[in-house]
Amino acid sequence: MGIQFDAITRIFTLQTRHTTYRMQVDERGRLLHLYYGRRIGTGDLAAMYPAANHGFSPDYYPCRRDHAASPDVLPQEYTVGNMGDFRLCCLWVRDEQGAAGADFLYRDHRIAPGKYALDGLPAAHDEDAEAETLCIFLRDEPTGLELELLYAVFADQDIITRAARLRNTGTGALWLDKTASVCLDLPFGSWELIHFHGRHAMERQMQRLPLGDAVTTVASTRGASSHHHNPFVILCEPDATEDAGLCYGVMPVYSGSHRTDVEVDQNGLTRLVTGIQDQGFCWKLRSGDTFTAPEVILCCTAGGLGELSRRYHRFLRGNVCRGKFRFARRPVLINNWEATYFDFDADAIVSIAQKAADLGVEMLVLDDGWFGKRDDDNSGLGDWYVNQRKLPGGLDPLIGRIKDLGLRFGLWVEPEMISEDSDLYRAHPDWALTLPGRDPAMGRNQLVLDLGRPEVADYLLGRLTDLLERHDIDYIKWDMNRNMSDVYSRALPPDRQGETAHRYMLGVYRLLETLTTRFPDVLFEGCAGGGGRFDAGMLCYFPQIWCSDDTDAVERLDIQYGTSFGYPVSAMGAHVSACPNHQTGRTTPLWTRAVVAMAGTFGYELDPHRLSAEECGEVRRQIETFKKYYDVIHNGAYYRLSDPARQRRWAGWQFVTETESLVSLVLTRPEANARPLHLCLRGLDENALYRVQALEVHVCQATPELAGSRASWTGAVYSGSTLLYAGLTLPPLAGDWPCAQLHLIRLLPGGH
Ligand code: DGJ
Repeated sequence: MGIQFDAITRIFTLQTRHTTYRMQVDERGRLLHLYYGRRIGTGDLAAMYPAANHGFSPDYYPCRRDHAASPDVLPQEYTVGNMGDFRLCCLWVRDEQGAAGADFLYRDHRIAPGKYALDGLPAAHDEDAEAETLCIFLRDEPTGLELELLYAVFADQDIITRAARLRNTGTGALWLDKTASVCLDLPFGSWELIHFHGRHAMERQMQRLPLGDAVTTVASTRGASSHHHNPFVILCEPDATEDAGLCYGVMPVYSGSHRTDVEVDQNGLTRLVTGIQDQGFCWKLRSGDTFTAPEVILCCTAGGLGELSRRYHRFLRGNVCRGKFRFARRPVLINNWEATYFDFDADAIVSIAQKAADLGVEMLVLDDGWFGKRDDDNSGLGDWYVNQRKLPGGLDPLIGRIKDLGLRFGLWVEPEMISEDSDLYRAHPDWALTLPGRDPAMGRNQLVLDLGRPEVADYLLGRLTDLLERHDIDYIKWDMNRNMSDVYSRALPPDRQGETAHRYMLGVYRLLETLTTRFPDVLFEGCAGGGGRFDAGMLCYFPQIWCSDDTDAVERLDIQYGTSFGYPVSAMGAHVSACPNHQTGRTTPLWTRAVVAMAGTFGYELDPHRLSAEECGEVRRQIETFKKYYDVIHNGAYYRLSDPARQRRWAGWQFVTETESLVSLVLTRPEANARPLHLCLRGLDENALYRVQALEVHVCQATPELAGSRASWTGAVYSGSTLLYAGLTLPPLAGDWPCAQLHLIRLLPGGH
């Protein structure tokens, strides 16, 4: 396993447990992509690919007479525009004469144990020392532009990460108009594209599309990875299911504007190019400068979509999230946002905390409104000083009272933004991104700070360090509530304005890197108006991210379903909120809300004083249940049991460890004269025995006679194969969104 180079054939082979990735330096010195897919043995792959002589596909210059090779036809590893490959390109580079192009030829390579690091950008890590790195060095002679292609192989996990670095060793400046991270050519097969689109409060809706003979684009131009198009796509065989079929995952480790294009070319080759969004992007690379294109996490499996997801879950948790919170138990929290919005004082917060502590909650999070002049969302952002009217004496007296209740304390911030009505804006209007001579487009009546400017990032670092050093804060919720428009930096010259949006991301990453390193005991939760920046880049700093501003349990079924394709349960911020739900007006059973939030980090976002005595009892039991099953929920393997595109009657999912399994199901469409609901489980050991130990069936008030109903098989022992293939029939569920939870214990050999 690992990385091999055959010096005779000049073939690189990256081998993981179940996959092979292969490239070759051809006789002209160009790096061709040969293969990525199921693990294969030897054989001359280059001979299998069409060489050339396709009408209107140009020849490499030395092949102009024999038409032996065309850049437009061969699978390529990292392609440059204007060089004869008319398909999607990774790089569009111009020199001082305005001439576009670069023809990279192989120079050298290095294979080393461990994982490469990327300056200034988040990237996967190799804390458990399992990775191996390959760097391939290529050079374009006329410009002196050097390209370093980086590969890290996590063989046991079937993960390969890639990145690209460009260094200008020439004498003149170069302009990068487009710099993608990865090109992935699949010369064989036909593929479907799965992507995750959405909008604010309805993020990551899974959509599966056949690929036509066209270019399909999944992208954000919003300065954030966005609610609208998540930076994660899957290419899969048309008949791929949860359990079988070849699938490729492509996940950029980047939180800004991104772009993934997929093209099916004239010969049926599928090319995927992914990286930073090129609209508005232009990076000036002076002599001696280096530009790094963000990392991309690739995974390939023949085990279907479920297996692909589980591989990403494990990798993101173990090799992207960092520090002690990768695996540390997360506290059950209560957040005051939907309980009070901006209207609170210290006594109100303490009273919420008091009641919540009594129910078993472990942390109080004080959301928006505690700082500056902030009674609504029109002012105050940037003034990270305590609002003394709401919190007399500052944060310490409040934190003291919360801690006296035995709770931890968390605080909301939105550092990247500035209100026009703030002391910070009055002092530094030029720190906001605005176009000269124009009124800016406003989002939530706030502007975006120019975080590419070191002094802006340093100011925020100072304020946040001060907050975290002076106060006993256990958790930070880092929010970001508008997208980027009017992208113009007062600190950059005209020919560098195209760098502003990416410099902003580099500034955000530097800030987060410094803070999370300085305060390793603080749990950071990401947020961007819900899940507007739910990506692998943010997961390097935030082990959990607020999944959506939509807390309606039924809507969350689809949001969390889509999110689960790439991201682990431990990363998905999910809370139980009040009903009627504040976003949709829907009323769902309290236990259903908890079952859905238990497929995430779990917490509450409501005023506990409004709960009846009976509901308080239920909440207490919910928290006990979550704590009891924490291990299987956060550390277990995750299996989707339903696909909302195929059936809307119920949604189900399952967590599995070596010793137990928890199954959750929500009925989304009750039926009159209902057909029996059969549930075939997943992830169990066929040969093991399981006791179906605890079945909770929660139905709505409308059908109380069903509330106590238990299936006859409760407490019975079944073989894994029976549960997998014959399944269980649930007792009848009816009413508005009832749920069921089922716990299985694997018996030891001998049936204990
Ligand atoms: C958007 C977040 O997603 C909410 O949870 C809340 O923190 C508000 N911002 C506060 O302004």
